[in-house]
Amino acid sequence: MKGIILAGGSGTRLQPMTRAVNKQLLHIYDKPMIYYPLSTLMLAGIREILIISSLEAQPSFHKLLGNGETFGLTISYAEQKQPNGIAEAFIIGEEFIGGEPCALILGDNVFHGHGLSELLTQAAQLTSGARIFTNWVSDPERYGVANFDKKGSVISLTEKPEEPLSNWAVVGIYFFDNKASSIAKTISPSARGELEILDVIQNYLNENTLKVEKLGRGYSWLDTGTPQSLLQAATFVQTLQQRQGLYVCCPEEIALSKGFIDITAFKQLAQNMGTSDYGKLLYQIASEFNIPSDG
Ligand code: TTP
Repeated sequence: MKGIILAGGSGTRLQPMTRAVNKQLLHIYDKPMIYYPLSTLMLAGIREILIISSLEAQPSFHKLLGNGETFGLTISYAEQKQPNGIAEAFIIGEEFIGGEPCALILGDNVFHGHGLSELLTQAAQLTSGARIFTNWVSDPERYGVANFDKKGSVISLTEKPEEPLSNWAVVGIYFFDNKASSIAKTISPSARGELEILDVIQNYLNENTLKVEKLGRGYSWLDTGTPQSLLQAATFVQTLQQRQGLYVCCPEEIALSKGFIDITAFKQLAQNMGTSDYGKLLYQIASEFNIPSDG
C-alpha cells in the first residue's frame, strides 16, 4: 500500500506562526510536526510516501526528509495549489498511487497508543473497500462525525454537524482501495468550497464496502490546528517521553525496528543529530539495540 501525507492547508488558526512557515514544519515538542504522520504511516509498514503541500513549502520538506532513503523510504512531493479540500489528495496523487490501494493521513494529526502498529499494519493489508477510524471526542461539531446504529454499524457520516448525532469523530487517517482517485474526481465541492473526504467515504458506505472502527480509550488522537491543541500535543509527547523513556513518533526508531534500515545507518542518523537531546535519544536506542552493528 502507498501513503499520502496531506501537508498543505492555510493554517489560519495558527497565524502568525504559519505566516512564513508551513504548519507541518512547526514542532511538537522535540520534532517537526510532519514526523508524527510520517511515523504513523511507517508504523503501518508503508514505505512509498507522497507529501502534498504548497510549492513554496516543498524545499523545506525536501531539506528535512529528502527522498526518504535515510529512513529506508521513498518520499516524493506534489503540489496542492490551494487548500481545495482533503479529497483533492487523491486527484493530485493519482499518478503516484498508480492504481494501488492507498492510505491518506493529515499532516497535523498525531496518533499514539498500545497496539497501534498492529492495527495500522492490518489496515494497510486492505485490497478492497475502505477502512476508517473514529475516536470519542467532547467537541464532535469540529469534525466529520459517524453515527452508529444499535448493532454498531455506521449509518451516516456528517461533516462538522451543528447538532452531532454522536461523539464519534472520524480521525485523520483513511485507508482506501484503488478506487479513491476515480471517486474523488466525481465529487463536487461542498458549500465551504472543498472536496470533502467524507464524500469519498460516503461512496464506500453506499456500496457497503466501508469498515468503520472505533478507537477505544487506549488510543490517543490529537490534532494540532490551534495554539492550545499544539501546546497540549507538545506537553503530551514530553510527558510520555520523559515518564516512560519511550519515544513518540520517532521515525528513525521506527525505521530501525521495522527493518527499513540497519543499525549502521541508524547510528549515522544519530550522529547527524549532533549533541541535541534528540541525538542523545537516538544513541540511547542504538545502545539498547541487541544486534551487533557488523551483524
Ligand atoms: P484543516 O485543519 O482543515 O486546515 P488548515 O491546516 O488549513 O488550518 P486552518 O483551519 O487553521 O486554516 O486541515 C487539516 C489538515 O489537512 C492540515 O494538516 C492541512 C491539511 N489540508 C491540506 O493540506 N489541504 C487542504 O485542502 C485541506 C482542507 C487540508
